[in-house]
Amino acid sequence: MKQLLAVCAGVLACAAPVLAQSDLERETQAARALSAQLVQQLGATLKAELGTNGPEGAIGVCKDTAPTIAGNLSRQSGARVARVSLRTRNAMLGTPDAWEQTVLADFDRRVEAGEKPEAMEHAEFVDEPAGRYFRYLKAIPVQPMCLACHGATDTIPEGVKRKLAADYPNDRATGYAPGQIRGAVTVKKPSN
Ligand code: HEC
Repeated sequence: MKQLLAVCAGVLACAAPVLAQSDLERETQAARALSAQLVQQLGATLKAELGTNGPEGAIGVCKDTAPTIAGNLSRQSGARVARVSLRTRNAMLGTPDAWEQTVLADFDRRVEAGEKPEAMEHAEFVDEPAGRYFRYLKAIPVQPMCLACHGATDTIPEGVKRKLAADYPNDRATGYAPGQIRGAVTVKKPSN
């Protein structure tokens, strides 16, 4: 027995099963990377567009660029990557399913309890009627640059308000303040 332990200690492979990443960790890391790509690409484009064309000119970034980036990431990864929110501007694209609603509501509760939204995420395997899925949600915090289009209505520039009212008669995505959660990046992938 002593000898076996000695041999084992000298061979890294013995420790491998213990050190091996769980499926959940592996999938979570991949989803985290996808979500970071979406948020970074979108944030950079939004910042640049706000700088050159102002909020009216930047509407297209949240409207067209976001779904395009999310679509590209979905195709590249084989997972569904999208943005969801409990208070949507575009209900067609952004309405959460039951699992997403539950996790988003939990995120809001955690923020109210004082937790910072920046690193907030949730991952698990879920058995659904269509099969088993890896599911991941990463909170999208409200930043000052979001307020021109998602802040209190009396602070949104008139031109932006007009455009939003014309395109989104059922807009529920105003009235946010920095530090709150605007929604989440969702990643959903068939598992086995
Ligand atoms: C220039 C205006 C503008 C700015 C600035 C802006 N958004 Fe948006 N946002 C929109 C529009 C327009 C939509 C609707 C997109 C669509 O048609 O799918 C939207 C939709 C969203 C959605 C999808 C869910 C929904 O409500 O339909 C999220 C999430 C979101 N925005 C987050 C943000 C965050 C976070 C920021 C700041 C980093 C931000 N937005 C800044 C205009 C803007």
